[in-house]
Amino acid sequence: MKRFRVKTLISMDPQEDPVLCKGWVRTKRDSKNVVFFEVNDGSSMKNLQVILDKDKEILSEQMLQRLNNGSSVEVEGMLVESPGKNQKVELHCSALTIHGDADPETYPMQKKRHSFEYLREIAHLRPRTNTFGAVARVRNTMSRAVHDFFQENGFLWVHTPIITASDAEGAGEMFQVTTLDLDGLAKADGAKMSGGIDYSRDFFGKPSFLTVSGQLNAEIYASAMDRVYTFGPTFRAENSNTSRHLAEFWMIEPEIAFCDLEANMDWSEAFLKHILATVLKESRDDMEFFDLRIQKGIIQQLEQVVESDFTRISYSDAVSQLEKSGRNFEYPVSWGADLQSEHEKFLTEEIFKGPVIVTDYPKEIKAFYMRLNDDEKTVRGMDVLVPRLGEIIGGSQREERLDVLSRRLGESGLTEKDYWWYLDLRRFGSVPHSGFGLGFERLIQYVTGMQNIRDVIPFPRASKTAEF
Ligand code: 4AD
Ligand code: MG
Repeated sequence: MKRFRVKTLISMDPQEDPVLCKGWVRTKRDSKNVVFFEVNDGSSMKNLQVILDKDKEILSEQMLQRLNNGSSVEVEGMLVESPGKNQKVELHCSALTIHGDADPETYPMQKKRHSFEYLREIAHLRPRTNTFGAVARVRNTMSRAVHDFFQENGFLWVHTPIITASDAEGAGEMFQVTTLDLDGLAKADGAKMSGGIDYSRDFFGKPSFLTVSGQLNAEIYASAMDRVYTFGPTFRAENSNTSRHLAEFWMIEPEIAFCDLEANMDWSEAFLKHILATVLKESRDDMEFFDLRIQKGIIQQLEQVVESDFTRISYSDAVSQLEKSGRNFEYPVSWGADLQSEHEKFLTEEIFKGPVIVTDYPKEIKAFYMRLNDDEKTVRGMDVLVPRLGEIIGGSQREERLDVLSRRLGESGLTEKDYWWYLDLRRFGSVPHSGFGLGFERLIQYVTGMQNIRDVIPFPRASKTAEF
């Protein structure tokens, strides 16, 4: 018998032959003569309605007791037109196997709605909820859209390393990688270890870290392949316990040769619009769920963003606008200070009512690699800000002039010795180039309306949280 996924079954026409469906029970309603239950297998927001006629003695009374919310089942039956208005078809069960029970007394997922805080504590079961199923599917659609966009535009996907010796952001927020000194541990324990491992703690011969960004590696490849991008996990040991920060998050970083800041902004805008348009089209059911349950009106909001031009404004102008607003911010705005998320929200939600690209920040608050402007005070950096979240993209035109880059390294307290290979890219065939980094989870938050970043990544890693 042919097995179909729930997503296919619910949109199929009634079938002449019986069909097979496998999944987990989501709801069960027991009446005198029939049992109604719904099955979900993760392929769709919607469940398949199954009807089991008690008179047909398909299941014993004892087996019926085992058919519960959460139990895994295999159902055979005829797919027929449904008289109900909520679904097109329903499955009339002719045989049923229960693979795994879920005792209603102890199963942590009850029929009621659970809070996201509670679900974070049972992160191994939360993919079984509507919300986390929808997030997982939308995340998948967005990943595919990322690759589609770059592949269609002639970009090469470069797999940059996770272990690195350089601090790409110069911000000192890195996790260090060392080896376990098992031999030393064993000796300390008083135990004798034959053939014990005695690695040097610095396996690579110098301190090594988990990458905070693949940018510098991407620049190496852009200096030969023209257009490249990375898409992978990055790590930051920042102790920010906020709804927008993770210690491990996924970043997408295109790096483009022969590209200035204007073109970089164009790329970032086209890229974001492509992702939004794809999700709106391909994950319609899931987006309707988010619109209804998580963030009212989000579909229309995103549709508008796809249709409109992003505002572009210099940091200096953004600061004047904020000062002029007369608003009493918790952190006062003044030229030279970094924009706080309250300022970013004010710009996107109150002043410009949509995404805003802020450019030309003071050099002191940005990384050493951003191209210095002629005023010697600002750099060709850009942040893309969106309503509800603030910054989702950080990028820049890179400093391609050897002498200026050397000077900027020194000013930032970094040594040329550590970045000799990066400087080489400016010594040999240097090229004006630009790139940016998009925080994938922040974009998923923006698209779904989910408020906490820990709820848009399957296994959140934040300070003091890592169960498995
Ligand atoms: O602004 P950031 O630090 O820029 C870079 O890392 C550059 N090397 C990117 C580049 O030009 N290639 O980080 C980029 C984005 C931020 O805008 C934010 O969306 C996200 O990464 N991000 C985080 N997301 C979740 N948790 C954190 N702790 C994050 N830190 C940054
Ligand atoms: Mg940034």
